[in-house]
Amino acid sequence: MIYLNGKFMPIEEACIPVLDRGFIFGDGIYEVIPAYSRKPFRLPKHLNRLQHSLDGIRLKNPFSNDEWKNLLEQVIAKSDAEDQYLYLHITRGVAKRDHAFPVNVPPTVFIMSNPLLPPPAELLASGASAITAIDNRWIRCDVKAISLLPNVLLRQLAVDVHALETILIRDGFLTEGAASNIFVVKNGVLLAPPKSNLMLPGITYDVVLELAAANKIPHEIREITEAEVRTADEILLTSSTKEIMPIASLDNQPVGQGKPGPLFARLHALYQDYKATNMRGHSCGCSNS
Ligand code: PDD
Repeated sequence: MIYLNGKFMPIEEACIPVLDRGFIFGDGIYEVIPAYSRKPFRLPKHLNRLQHSLDGIRLKNPFSNDEWKNLLEQVIAKSDAEDQYLYLHITRGVAKRDHAFPVNVPPTVFIMSNPLLPPPAELLASGASAITAIDNRWIRCDVKAISLLPNVLLRQLAVDVHALETILIRDGFLTEGAASNIFVVKNGVLLAPPKSNLMLPGITYDVVLELAAANKIPHEIREITEAEVRTADEILLTSSTKEIMPIASLDNQPVGQGKPGPLFARLHALYQDYKATNMRGHSCGCSNS
């Protein structure tokens, strides 16, 4: 069951007019929110980012945060899965094709939920591969826009060579992944690129930095050069759907020892413990390992 413009319906019955500005111009924004044990993860942070994206495209938020919460709870309740990821999509609505914003047109609001599965254990154990590419996207990557063609093309470069992700470099510096944030580890220090208009401010990125701070893991938020990415001891990827994953090879070269490193193991355990404590109401104790 999905939600579309005020109604719940099976996804097969959901229809959008061809003149929807999301379809015509990619004129809209979206958000992806994990729900663990049927509870949305960091909902206020996701709703803040949703507001930031709406402000970025000058579209009024159709709902208050309480209304969003209520709607999302209804969507979650209609799914069988305990862990889900919620996809929220808002476009500037349906209007005669004209680049100018339409006047008095209601937005299109679509919400769906899919089961959320953890990354495969084999991949967590062996580490994933990634490639690099020049970041040729626009300069409002902080807006979670549905016009994702550059991200789609960049991610496909990785898919074409059976890699997990494309790591993006702009003007000699790391920005992020095509659909993820990227951290680098050098000499035991976790390095994170600073939030800017050139990357999406990841909710998982924030969790990882908070866990590092709370557990006295040395970390720095600063510009990371391409050379530092290429000589990293570890590379970590984060996103709402992939949580935290190790990158063990980059452009066919091993990253560090060519397998997941100690900081990945520590942060992954801390992340699982954080989830268990905050979302499932118990601690797995795995962060002590
Ligand atoms: N993508 N950067 C980009 C370009 C992304 O698309 C994503 C997530 C992230 C990570 O943000 P977060 O930790 O808040 O998920 C960073 C989602 C999962 C997607 O488009 O499906």
